[in-house]
Amino acid sequence: MSFKLEVNRMMYEVDVDGDTALLWVLRDVLGMTGTKFGCGIGLCGACTVHIDRTPRRSCITPISSIGHGAITTIEAIDATQQGKALQKAWLDLEVVQCGYCQSGQIMSAAALLMTNPKPSDADVDAVMSGNVCRCGTYQRIHAAIHRAAAS
Ligand code: FES
Ligand code: FES
Repeated sequence: MSFKLEVNRMMYEVDVDGDTALLWVLRDVLGMTGTKFGCGIGLCGACTVHIDRTPRRSCITPISSIGHGAITTIEAIDATQQGKALQKAWLDLEVVQCGYCQSGQIMSAAALLMTNPKPSDADVDAVMSGNVCRCGTYQRIHAAIHRAAAS
């Protein structure tokens, strides 16, 4: 079945089954591999993208459910003020270890700053607790979010 999608401000037409997860359309059909597969059941956050500026787990988002929603992925988050500030803070503080979870972390953090430009520690904890990092970079992630919020 054919679906029209807006991804990173470009229109695409894809021919996939309606229950295909957005994650696989991004990675396998559109070649946008910045969005990662972790658990596949909505629990780790590695696959986080934005749909209409709201964070969504792309591994459990069927393509048929998106409609006219505007999708943003890690490949284009630097086009937003929040994403750009976060990526700079991430680099300045050398947040990344293996890197696997990090695109999802930045997408969740960007969504947080879009709705709450000066989050408290508790706000950060509440939003970021769904993004798992097996390398334990949580302290640096928190510091980078606060640095981006202050910039
Ligand atoms: S891969 Fe989607 S939440 Fe883990
Ligand atoms: S940096 Fe390795 S999983 Fe988070």
